Amino acid sequence: MKKSAALTTTFFVTLSMLLTACSGASNSTNIGNTSQNETTNTSSVIPIGIAFAQTSNVALLGQEQVAGAKIAEKYFNDKGGINGTPIKLVFQDTSGDENGAINAFQTLINKDKVVGIVGPTLSQQAFSADPVADRGKVPVLAASNTAAKIPEIGDYVARVSAPSSVVAPNSIKAALKLNPNIKKVAVFFAQNDSYSKSETDIFQKTVKDQNLELVTVQKFQTSDTDFQTQATNAINLKADLVIISGLAADGGNLVRQLRELGYKGLIVGGNGLNTSNIFPVCKALCDGVLIAQAYSPEHPGEINSTFRKAYTEQYKKEPPQFTAQAFSAVQVYVEALQALDKKTKVNTLALPQLRNELNKQILAGKYNTPLGEIAFTPVGEVVQKDFYVAQIKMDKDGNQGQFAFLK
Ligand code: ALA
Repeated sequence: MKKSAALTTTFFVTLSMLLTACSGASNSTNIGNTSQNETTNTSSVIPIGIAFAQTSNVALLGQEQVAGAKIAEKYFNDKGGINGTPIKLVFQDTSGDENGAINAFQTLINKDKVVGIVGPTLSQQAFSADPVADRGKVPVLAASNTAAKIPEIGDYVARVSAPSSVVAPNSIKAALKLNPNIKKVAVFFAQNDSYSKSETDIFQKTVKDQNLELVTVQKFQTSDTDFQTQATNAINLKADLVIISGLAADGGNLVRQLRELGYKGLIVGGNGLNTSNIFPVCKALCDGVLIAQAYSPEHPGEINSTFRKAYTEQYKKEPPQFTAQAFSAVQVYVEALQALDKKTKVNTLALPQLRNELNKQILAGKYNTPLGEIAFTPVGEVVQKDFYVAQIKMDKDGNQGQFAFLK
């Protein structure tokens, strides 16, 4: 790239331009056409795209992610941002489907001119939206996608959300510890959802590895609300462990209906049920559900205690996994940008070059996050050490609950 061209296509945008973009004004400034006067360092911010579900049932997960990203934005800007330049998170709602995610990505890439994207909420969305970013050579950092083969979507795709293959088996092992007499297992999964299909493979393999009998595999849709037939099948087969891979609304309803129909055994919920937003769905009947965790609020270290304090002060409860992962994804961007900026001032790089360098820097770094120390394999898979299992404990009236971490 010629130097003159580089100078006229710097990625910086002024705060007022970004606010215009965020407000949805149709004539927002194209950074590629930004004049020199508009790119002075003192009034500039570094835009990072956040593509989470803020509407639809998937917002039961997405709203926890938004909270984590916002805490990170304040935390890192209070500490000086990117060597003095603040970051600005640009939020685009993906809603719950593939098209919503594609639209959010396109807006972030082409209109908001972000340096990279965190998201989308679902693996199901990632398989459609991530290729758009990858073709545009824009980094994507997944914060909640746990299906197999997410980083393999492309060179520009990585994730901080550990895959089901390393997280999910822990919950079955915890169930066996709580009840060593478990013999017959019924597995349920949402057949229209990529993460659920991927996670159930891991669950079913773990069931076999543990020499348990898989008595039935029941399928449903994430849009379903009536699970009587599937739940009755599992009960008739005398399952003494039920394992569910689905999302929060359907998963919560399935738990409730299993209990209402008289199922008494342990229930393991997958990653899509890992939110207190299922509590209003299954209320007191959520009690006892086991869910593996890629985050513990008790994780030692300064960054987690600061994150935990900021979250608990605002929300009056412990931070959930999806919130910690979203914080960590923003942190990876911030620290990668800081490292890059020390080598080459990022405001001298044209946006395509910055996105490319940033992508390499993300994969090269090590990050001490609330999830613990993480790094990436060359393909962009997260390398993380610590995983946990929590059990839902509900008050008798079913209005309040919490995730109790098992030892
Ligand atoms: N872990 C879920 C997914 O990947 C949210 O879709």
